[in-house]
This record gives sequence, structure tokens and C-alpha cells, in this order.
Amino acid sequence: MNTSLGAAAPTGAIVIDQVSKTFDRGDDVVRALVDVNLTFQEGTFVTLFGPSGCGKTTLLRILAGLEEMTAGTVSLFGETPAQAARAKNVAWVPQSAALLPWLSIRSNILLSQFVNRAADRMPAGDRKRIPEDPDKVLAELGLADFAHARPAQLSGGMRQRAAIARGFVQGAPLMLMDEPFSALDELTREAIRLRLLDVWEKNRKTVVFVTHSAPEAVLLSDKVVVMTPRPGRVHRVVDIDLPRPRSRAILESAAFIDKVREVQSILREGWEADE
Ligand SMILES: Nc1ncnc2c1ncn2[C@@H]1O[C@H](COP(=O)(O)OP(=O)(O)OP(=O)(O)O)[C@@H](O)[C@H]1O
Ligand SMILES: [Mg+2]
Repeated sequence: MNTSLGAAAPTGAIVIDQVSKTFDRGDDVVRALVDVNLTFQEGTFVTLFGPSGCGKTTLLRILAGLEEMTAGTVSLFGETPAQAARAKNVAWVPQSAALLPWLSIRSNILLSQFVNRAADRMPAGDRKRIPEDPDKVLAELGLADFAHARPAQLSGGMRQRAAIARGFVQGAPLMLMDEPFSALDELTREAIRLRLLDVWEKNRKTVVFVTHSAPEAVLLSDKVVVMTPRPGRVHRVVDIDLPRPRSRAILESAAFIDKVREVQSILREGWEADE
């Protein structure tokens, strides 16, 4: 594995350079990612979009420092994933909210801030986090009245919003979100997407998001990375140049509908090119 960074790795960007990942399962070897190259400036909302098994979660886990790459390098604002994870410069929003059931929503969120404070003992130069006010973020996500409720007293959509709030209050410059809305019904999903959009447009941290939904990808993102089926490669990076701030009204616009079609057709094209 090569995790060394070139001296010129820019500190204001995420650079994924020639990253490959192979899983060795004894009798068979799975090539999950092959030669992935991506660069994003700080403050970009990026979505990984591609068929099941193309390596989206694997790439996210590499960025989070949870998985080692077989080849290549990653720079997260000048740090390796392991360094960024140690300094708590990466926040992870899981598919299931994963809240502690015996704590209130507010306490769940404060706990994650408290745990991350351990990283504050690091030299100032290693700290990039700007923790946010938990009550402000809860209010922005429509949870002010439920701050003192236990997770079991919330709906699935509200729990996911709480998980997003927990991600934001950590103040990490990079947020990784792996299909955070996949367990929700379509209406709830649409509402929560718009909430996320609203909160994100106010603070614009760098997000790498995974979804199977083209409209979700287009609504939220600055860039959609369309991947090919296994082994996962980057087929195309589509710029979503729709104006911001975006709101529900954009869903009806011809520009939005065209962009969704474009992303879907690029996905099909990547699939066919791979056959
Ligand atoms: N720990 C592991 N051991 C062996 N193979 C793995 C492991 N994790 C992932 N893989 C394989 O790597 C490939 C990519 O998996 P990954 O979970 O990254 O895909 P994905 O794009 O997130 O799929 P989905 O959309 O279904 O979540 C798959 O073929 C999977 O079987
Ligand atoms: Mg996955």
C-alpha cells in the first residue's frame, strides 16, 4: 500500500490519485476499484453515482481511513485519510442513523462533539474543525422540538435528520454520507433532501455523498461522479451547473429534468461500455 503524499498535494482540495482496491478472499480476488482519479476543491458537494457493487462504499471507506487502498494515494486537504481520521477531520453519516437509544437527540449530538474534542489536544495546525452550535443545527433540520426526545420517539426520517445534525456539528471539513436516505419512503426522502440542501448551502463543507437516485444526485451536487460496474472506475464526472441556492421549485424546471436525464444516460453508457 502506498499512502505517502506527493510534496505538492494541495491543502485546499481532495485528491484521489490512481486509487485501486482489490479484496483478496482466499480463493478469489475481487477488483473493487481500478485507477480512480478525482480532484475536488474544498466546499464541493460531490456525489458518487453508479450501479450496485461498483465500489462506492469502498471508496468512501478509503476516504474515511477505514479501508486501506491497494494502490494509489489520497490527500484530504493535505492529510492522508489516517491522519484526517485521527484528527477527526472527517465525519461519517451512516445509512442507519446509529443513535444511542438511551440518550436524547441533543445528547447524542453533544456526545459526538465531546468525543471529537480529544482531537483538540493536537497541535493547532492539525485541527481543521470548526464545531457548530448543536441547537442551531437541530433547528435548521426541524428538530428543535425534539431535542430532548429519545431516538425511539422519532420517525425514521427524523432519526436520519438527527444523524445529519450529528455529522454537521462535529465541524469536520469533510462529510461522508453513504446512502443516508435509502431506508426512507419517497416523500420523506424528498423532504429530507431539501433540508440537507438548505443546511449545506448555509455552510458549504465538502461532502462526498452516495446515492442510487439520479434526481437526488442532481439536486444536491456540484459534481456527479458516474462510475462503471465492477470493477469500479470513474466513467465521467458531470458538472451540475444549476444555480444555487436551489429549492423545491428547481425540481420542476426543464434544466433540472434535462440534467437528470443526462446523468441517467451517462450511467447507461458506462454500463454498456463495460459489457
Ligand atoms: N470486505 C470485503 N471483502 C471482500 N469483498 C468486498 C468487501 N467489501 C466490498 N467488497 C466487494 O467490493 C465490491 C464493491 O463493493 P461496495 O460495497 O464498495 O459497492 P457499492 O458500490 O457500495 O454497492 P451498493 O450500491 O450495493 O452499496 C463488491 O464486489 C463487493 O463484493
Ligand atoms: Mg454501498
